[in-house]
Amino acid sequence: MMKNYTGYGLLAVGALFGFSVATGASADVSKLTESCVGCHGKGGSSTEAAIPNISSYSTEYMTGALKLYKSKERPCPEVKIPGGAKKGSKSDMCQAVKDLSDSDIKQVAEYFAEQKFVRTPQKFDPALAKKGKGLHDKLCEKCHSEGGSVASDDSGILAGQKMAYLDEQIKFFTEGKRPMAKKMKPKLEELDKAGIEAVIHYYGSFK
Ligand code: HEC
Ligand code: HEC
Repeated sequence: MMKNYTGYGLLAVGALFGFSVATGASADVSKLTESCVGCHGKGGSSTEAAIPNISSYSTEYMTGALKLYKSKERPCPEVKIPGGAKKGSKSDMCQAVKDLSDSDIKQVAEYFAEQKFVRTPQKFDPALAKKGKGLHDKLCEKCHSEGGSVASDDSGILAGQKMAYLDEQIKFFTEGKRPMAKKMKPKLEELDKAGIEAVIHYYGSFK
């Protein structure tokens, strides 16, 4: 194969459309995202309760999140791999990113940023969701806009995200196991156990 020629061609196309293309093997993003898709599902959205949907997250947030797993500053709960080549065996996020370079991380993040976020249909309690909306509007909407349905440079998507995942992350935040935005801390602390349950049902109510 005319490797060099293909490489230059890609670079030219990259320049034309304004995305960055690394030279050599790292340009093959489908290889880099193969393991991600095995757990997170095709395009980054699935119905696996413990595995978050990661589609259409901003490149900035995704890059930051992957680096936090690489440095083990975010907890890495082990899960059974639901699909792909290693289906059925167990692994976690820290394993998934440990061999990725900064440029790999950037490419992977850019790939998922372009995928559509598919909300996971979930069972929720409508009365709790209504209470949760009130609490969200008062305490959380400022940063997680439109009910948490908008991905920002510094956070992901809450609306239609897996309720089990959100529940676990809020536990990690309150137990100090996951770093939290300084200004989010006092807001989250305003929620008691029932309040946390309510906001999670609100996020789960998005179809
Ligand atoms: C073994 C299954 C598995 C693999 C492989 C995997 N993930 Fe994950 N991923 C998870 C689980 C489980 C979580 C939730 C972990 C937690 O509690 O923080 C997660 C969390 C994430 C998050 C954080 C989401 C958020 O809302 O903050 C991102 C981003 C992510 N994964 C991206 C990726 C990418 C990109 C790859 C491929 C390089 C990948 N994952 C591979 C299982 C996996
Ligand atoms: C001052 C802005 C701000 C406010 C207010 C705020 N958050 Fe956040 N939230 C963030 C940021 C930034 C992150 C990403 C944290 C990180 O860097 O990993 C986040 C992350 C989260 C996550 C994890 C999502 C994921 O994909 O892993 C949950 C759940 C969450 N917030 C819930 C809430 C709730 C509930 C409230 C209201 C009680 C709230 N937040 C208020 C800024 C805020």
